[in-house]
Amino acid sequence: MRLVLLGPPGAGKGTQAKVLSNKLRIPHISTGDIFREVKASESELGKKLSDYMNRGVLVPDEIVNQIVTDRLQRDDVKDAGFILDGYPRTRPQAEALDRALEDIGIHLDSVIYMKTSKRIILSRLTGRRICKACGSIFHIKNIPPKQEGVCDYCEGELYQRDDDKEDTVLKRLQVYEDQTKELIDYYNDREALQTVSGDLDVRQLYDVLYELFGKEGLL
Ligand code: AP5
Ligand code: MG
Repeated sequence: MRLVLLGPPGAGKGTQAKVLSNKLRIPHISTGDIFREVKASESELGKKLSDYMNRGVLVPDEIVNQIVTDRLQRDDVKDAGFILDGYPRTRPQAEALDRALEDIGIHLDSVIYMKTSKRIILSRLTGRRICKACGSIFHIKNIPPKQEGVCDYCEGELYQRDDDKEDTVLKRLQVYEDQTKELIDYYNDREALQTVSGDLDVRQLYDVLYELFGKEGLL
């Protein structure tokens, strides 16, 4: 299955992508996760990425497009497809994705727009905690770990993302409104878009997605 998850920060893209990827055995490609890994390496590129991400603005299209285009060439994508999470995020990125898929000779099956209320987004992002070791996503109230600060799956240390402070979250939401939201129309016009509610809890939303994929013959 070749899927794009589109939605504002905090819609739950990463959370659903991880579950779908594990259950359906499809590679999960999150540009945010890739950038956080490079950032942690403290290379020159890592420092540049840190600057963009900590300000809540987008990384330039040329950098993102190159990384995703290279990733899509790997064999696992040819075999099982992909779940793109956080990409594309601008019109030039969507066009670059079209070209990259055309070059490989494949097409998108579905773009899922996770429509989510602002009040919910703010409480989700300020309470998010992530495992340093395995990247599992928790929330201090909605999805609390069994032991505070410790990952349920690998016992790694949980941390708060630098860009989850309230003022940076507000900036990211503005950037989403200004640069990403237009992709809803871009994909709607090509009849590839399906809208679901990102406000649902994790299990309910997973069930909605699973039913949708079943109906579209994608399972
Ligand atoms: P990125 O990491 O992609 O961040 P984002 O798009 O802002 O989205 P988030 O990861 O914040 O939210 P999510 O939808 O994944 O929610 P999650 O599942 O974690 O990008 C970060 C930065 O990298 C960008 O600002 C930019 O600088 C750069 N970047 C990345 N991609 C780029 C691109 N293509 N172009 C340019 N720059 C790029 O859930 C959030 C919280 O809610 C968690 O605590 C979770 O436990 C909880 N939760 C999730 N689902 C539910 C639910 N259904 N019910 C209750 N709680 C839930
Ligand atoms: Mg995410």
